[in-house]
Amino acid sequence: MANDPINLYDYEARAKLALPHDNWDFIDAGAMDEITTKRNRSAFDQLSIRPRFMRSVEERKIATTMLGQDISMPVFVCPAGSHGIAHPDAEVATARAAGRSNTLMMLSTSSNCSMEEVAEAATGPLWFQLYHRGKALTEMLVHRAEEAGFKAIVLTIDTPVPSPKERDLRNKFERTLELGNFRDLNLPRNEISGTDETPGWDVSRADPITWKDLEWLRGLTSLPLVLKGVRVGEDAKIAAEMGVEGVLVSTHGGRQLDQTLSSIETVPEIVEAVKGNCEVYLDSGVRRGSDVLKALAMGVKAVGIGRPLYWGLATEGEDGVHNVLELLREEVGRVMDFCGQSDVGNLEKNLINIPNNWGPGSTAP
Ligand SMILES: Cc1cc2nc3c(=O)[nH]c(=O)nc-3n(C[C@H](O)[C@H](O)[C@H](O)COP(=O)(O)O)c2cc1C
Repeated sequence: MANDPINLYDYEARAKLALPHDNWDFIDAGAMDEITTKRNRSAFDQLSIRPRFMRSVEERKIATTMLGQDISMPVFVCPAGSHGIAHPDAEVATARAAGRSNTLMMLSTSSNCSMEEVAEAATGPLWFQLYHRGKALTEMLVHRAEEAGFKAIVLTIDTPVPSPKERDLRNKFERTLELGNFRDLNLPRNEISGTDETPGWDVSRADPITWKDLEWLRGLTSLPLVLKGVRVGEDAKIAAEMGVEGVLVSTHGGRQLDQTLSSIETVPEIVEAVKGNCEVYLDSGVRRGSDVLKALAMGVKAVGIGRPLYWGLATEGEDGVHNVLELLREEVGRVMDFCGQSDVGNLEKNLINIPNNWGPGSTAP
């Protein structure tokens, strides 16, 4: 049908019309001047593709793995809180959609549905995203996640303090929906809310997690550990040396610290720093199959999407998220064909052009 969404931006436009203004702003906003949010897109657009023709691509394979979990394409569902602001079925709808697309979902600590409800609904692999809320709550969350069948713990590290999302401040936006993982615990909201909130929120900052606590976290579970929000090679190196199984290069969609490089620009230094000792993933700004190929061509194993999940949910619920994922699948396949590539896990070198003035440049002494 002519009016069906044909790309992720069509879902974005529909979601903006469908959602109340303040909910839209909560999803769409970046921190402060939103420079990093914009840069997440512009840095992808500055990379160009070097297509290769006259090859047979009949056997093309876009399925891959994340820490041994089979996924049907190199695109996964990022952890993101409060799917309920976009659709009443919230994370259960997203989990069903991810399962229909045979891909992996990372479930946020700040979900509206509980992790057990999501595990019940899911048919694809699940990883649990952990916001550290002090040792006792972390221990409880990690044990429950393992028990419920989640296959990895993804510790988000880029939220040491609440995020300055000025649109939310201006709107006096408050997240009032239930945080399902803390149901019936009778804890004050400031103890269970994360720092993915605005400074206007009263969020407990007691007992932050540091590198010293990583061994303690490891000791809680036999599940593999992924660090989300790694921005620089130095931290990636520490993570790999401490034996984490994966790093997720992320700017949190530009929602935390503004004025950083985009995620894709930091990939080269992070891939170099981990020296193949752990898997590298990316999120922030991925909207097209060509973005997926660009990230993979730079050494990333799989990429995640954040805001587009809400766009799908707000437009068509579970079907919308599924369609968003399927549109990306189609685009990944098409760009693979244009590049004459037969396996996302084994891409040829020199598939992209990187302009001379792209990326980190040098650091100040
Ligand atoms: C509304 C919203 C809520 C989010 N909540 C979380 C969260 O609870 N935990 C987390 O680790 N990341 C969270 N994120 C960040 C995403 O996991 C991801 O890093 C980001 O959305 C990727 O960028 P993109 O939106 O440009 O795809 C959230 C993002 C959005 C848009």
